Amino acid sequence: MSQLDRDAIRAMRRSYGEVGLENLPADPFAAFANWLKEAAENSFIVEPNAMVLSTLGDKEHISTRTVLLKDISEGGFTFFTNYSSRKAQAIELNSQVTLLFPWFAMERQVSISGFAEKISEVESTEYFLTRPWASQIGAWASAQSAPLASREELEQRFVGASEKWPEGSSVPKPPHWGGYRVTPISIEFWQGRYSRLHDRLRYERANSNAEWEITRYYP
Ligand SMILES: Cc1cc2nc3c(=O)[nH]c(=O)nc-3n(C[C@H](O)[C@H](O)[C@H](O)COP(=O)(O)O)c2cc1C
Repeated sequence: MSQLDRDAIRAMRRSYGEVGLENLPADPFAAFANWLKEAAENSFIVEPNAMVLSTLGDKEHISTRTVLLKDISEGGFTFFTNYSSRKAQAIELNSQVTLLFPWFAMERQVSISGFAEKISEVESTEYFLTRPWASQIGAWASAQSAPLASREELEQRFVGASEKWPEGSSVPKPPHWGGYRVTPISIEFWQGRYSRLHDRLRYERANSNAEWEITRYYP
């Protein structure tokens, strides 16, 4: 990397604001719901429900990727994916995961640590049927995370599935597709503040039945 590139990166620096984390509710789900709503209303934030999911797998293969939050219910955060994918294989080995919402335009992040569990087939089917037709066909066409010889192969598989279930017909949920619910044991809210004196409040509990405790951490 040249000197100019390094200086340019080092010069990327923003000053953060005055608004702090003084009035978060005692329930972290309520706090999260407020922040998600504010992120959704902020036109500078694209995909407010996008979250970075990290998995540990066999502990030698940490991996990370973005998925979309589709529900907050039964004390957890739900996303949908392919049950044969790399992330699903990792969760099979180790259900411990983290989720990160990077809402940079609001000088905020929420990081969540918890345990992922498959939701029921009924719940997955109920959501699958609400998806647009092309997304439903896409779920049949993609062997997510498997090597793919060419783009054409993927498009042929899409055409094959769309011939089987033409637009307007009802597309069944593929057996390899469904949701995971992440039940948190910690949820940390980070708000950027002036002079790098940011606010961090972490809600933590020993297990999913225990009471939440709130601790403020040095930034
Ligand atoms: C904004 C965004 C949203 C995404 N949402 C999902 C999603 O909800 N489910 C999913 O399986 N993949 C989603 N992806 C793709 C994943 O990041 C990832 O590439 C894919 O799931 C394969 O990951 P894996 O091989 O680690 O299992 C999304 C990617 C981006 C950039």
